Amino acid sequence: MTALALTELTLSHFRSHKRAAITLDARPLAIFGPNGAGKTNVLEAASLLSPGRGLRRAGADDLTRRPEALGWKITAILQSLHQTHEIETWAEAGNPRQLRIDGKAAPQTALGRIARILWLVPSMDRLWIEGAEGRRRFLDRATLSFEPTHAEAVLTYDKAMRERNRLLKDMVRDPHWYTAIEGQMAEAGAAIQKNRHRAIAELTTAQEAATTAFPTAMLTLTSAEPIPDNLQTALADNRNRDMAAGRTLIGPHRADLDAVFADKGVPAKDCSTGEQKALLISLILANGRALARDFGAPPILLLDEVAAHLDAARRAALYDEICSLGAQAFMTGTGAELFAELGRRAQYVEVTETDGQSIVTQKDTP
Ligand SMILES: Nc1ncnc2c1ncn2[C@@H]1O[C@H](COP(=O)(O)OP(=O)(O)O)[C@@H](O)[C@H]1O
Ligand SMILES: [Mg+2]
Repeated sequence: MTALALTELTLSHFRSHKRAAITLDARPLAIFGPNGAGKTNVLEAASLLSPGRGLRRAGADDLTRRPEALGWKITAILQSLHQTHEIETWAEAGNPRQLRIDGKAAPQTALGRIARILWLVPSMDRLWIEGAEGRRRFLDRATLSFEPTHAEAVLTYDKAMRERNRLLKDMVRDPHWYTAIEGQMAEAGAAIQKNRHRAIAELTTAQEAATTAFPTAMLTLTSAEPIPDNLQTALADNRNRDMAAGRTLIGPHRADLDAVFADKGVPAKDCSTGEQKALLISLILANGRALARDFGAPPILLLDEVAAHLDAARRAALYDEICSLGAQAFMTGTGAELFAELGRRAQYVEVTETDGQSIVTQKDTP
């Protein structure tokens, strides 16, 4: 199977799920059930099989099932091209999240090499109008899917920047303290920007090449302040200003992703709510096509409530594109009828809730 798919996913004491075990093949998975049943929690569990804090950006302690608060665990079997990996991630109460891949302790960044997971969640409906942080995160997740070393570059950069910001706050003026840290920031920062440019180029090409029902987003990497080519020198020159601000003002941590609805020439932030969502779907699908070509398999997609705001024709088009891409897309919706057009092309899970506990039932048809 040249696919990227979760074939087993088990949630133990994870949010509303006491224990849920799902066995899957590589087809898309439609998850339906009433509001609050625990559908998004399943997607969140899957999102924790990629580096970072998952689709809600929750801390390890928020994930533990309450009121017991005993700690939680997720296990998964991941089919990645021709390899099978067992992934276990968990946190004991009050402790940070841990990870084992194939029985061996591993850093989260290692997940980026075996699992490519992308998501769209309803809070991203405001991605184009809210602050740059969300767009940067969206871009960095796309970037990570093309370039797994991006995770390390971002970690190195952020760590060095935190150290520099501490020096700035402590009003340290001796250059000797800054040189090595700023060197690390410059090196990691250059890698970050290079990776992001590559991701934008990949997404651009993949959109141009495709016949799709979704609109093309013209993308540019911008920044609150221009990011100089020689970041090391610029950081050294900016110490006084940064000290007054109490933080680092220039660098890739201030980058932004600019999008324009190509056919109309309208900036994404000025598009209708539906168009803004369509641009995001378009980018996720383009990302999928580019990865299918570069990596050999499309990513796992986590599409929370994606069907809710699409009319029937668009919804059918989305399902067709996901199926022809061959992506294992996890999709949630309140009613099974939202997935009717998928028929046998998908597998189904119903989630209900009784006494504060989610119940997961696998089904052959919606
Ligand atoms: N740590 C937790 N322990 C127990 N229940 C939780 C926890 N975190 C969230 N929940 C519950 O999970 C439910 C929401 O699940 P969610 O997956 O978002 O629902 P939906 O099916 O609408 O997507 C809510 O009822 C919420 O109270
Ligand atoms: Mg939900």
